[in-house]
Amino acid sequence: MPTKTVTIAMNGVTGRMGRNQHLARSILAIREQGGVPLANGDVIWPEPILVGRDASRLAAVAKESSLDRYSTDLTAVLGDPDVDIYFDATATASRPVGVRAAIEAGKAVYCEKPLSASAAEAAELAALARSAGVKNGIVTDKLFLPGILKLGRALRSGFFGRLLSVRCDFGYWVFEGQLEPSQRPSWNYRREDGGGIVLDMFPHWQYVLETLFGDVRSVICRAVTHIPERVDEHGSPYTATADDAAYALMELDGGVMASVTCSWATRVWRDELVEFHVDGTLGSAVAGLRECHLQPRSATPRPVWNPDIPNPIDFRSTWVAAPPVEPEENAFKQQWEAFLRHVVADEPFEHTLESGARGSLLVELALRSSRERRWIDVPPREA
Ligand SMILES: NC(=O)c1ccc[n+]([C@@H]2O[C@H](COP(=O)([O-])OP(=O)(O)OC[C@H]3O[C@@H](n4cnc5c(N)ncnc54)[C@H](O)[C@@H]3O)[C@@H](O)[C@H]2O)c1
Repeated sequence: MPTKTVTIAMNGVTGRMGRNQHLARSILAIREQGGVPLANGDVIWPEPILVGRDASRLAAVAKESSLDRYSTDLTAVLGDPDVDIYFDATATASRPVGVRAAIEAGKAVYCEKPLSASAAEAAELAALARSAGVKNGIVTDKLFLPGILKLGRALRSGFFGRLLSVRCDFGYWVFEGQLEPSQRPSWNYRREDGGGIVLDMFPHWQYVLETLFGDVRSVICRAVTHIPERVDEHGSPYTATADDAAYALMELDGGVMASVTCSWATRVWRDELVEFHVDGTLGSAVAGLRECHLQPRSATPRPVWNPDIPNPIDFRSTWVAAPPVEPEENAFKQQWEAFLRHVVADEPFEHTLESGARGSLLVELALRSSRERRWIDVPPREA
């Protein structure tokens, strides 16, 4: 059983996503299971080099991960011919710097979303990767979540008939930092540092909507800052310069209407932190991160408007839970395995930097729509 070692420079592993999802729950979990098996019997063995700006924090992550290779010198790491892949989960504003350097060094590139806050820069990075001929990919973790996989299965089965609409409701209360610490990094609320809910979440909605339902043709959005002042990690107050809520409508291919509500200033009255409510002529579904409930046309109750009596229908009891998807695995780990197979065995990998650039495009057009208070058409993808 030949082993193919793949050396991955992992930048941003002292952060939330880099450390928890990408290092611990993906790369270390893959090593614990003995690597990624290939169809021909070979096994891919990921060998991470942790990269960052602070040697002592890197040393601590390396130690807790039982790894010994780390560096604060990105240029030197990218100059190492043994490094196969550059991975970037740094804060949004620094992503283009690392991605560009890695492409120029001829490395395969895999990174967190968004690719860039600028649509032009994201398109440029995607084009650079293509012309350099390096394999590349961007994180689309939501597509690998059980709830979304169940929704995808319903779509493929023809369950919905003609699709009518999608309602995406995302959000929860992010503490401002005065009464208790915020549960998200403070840069998320500063535009100058790559913050903002549109920049953070619309890349996710782009790949979910466009992979499952159809390309976004047009968008109207209002992005607002509900909480103007927050308290940072060091207890200092700061002005929130980025949007913390966004209210958008999108028209998709085939006239499917999507409404998207995102807020870090809302209290949850849902079963999950995000829910997609999909209506079609033959059935409807409500999918969250883990669950998906379905209601076919033939089991649709018959509501009659009468506020003078208590509601006679227990609506939730009329839906059926979609069965589990097997095997249930961490979403980030599944996509890492797919990317490693893409790099080593040339297996197909759909979500390249080019598709990431569509996410940055949607962000830019949604923010422009908000500023200009109007619908904006989204250019179709190049054939
Ligand atoms: N896929 C998802 O579901 C998901 C969820 C949350 C965040 N993200 C994305 O992951 C990225 C990281 O988010 P996070 O919540 O882990 O942030 P974080 O603040 O916890 O971590 C950021 C990391 O980047 C490093 N960093 C910050 N500024 C840097 C700079 N100028 N140069 C180099 N490194 C720098 C930090 O040291 C840290 O290691 C963001 O781009 C965010 O959009 C993705």
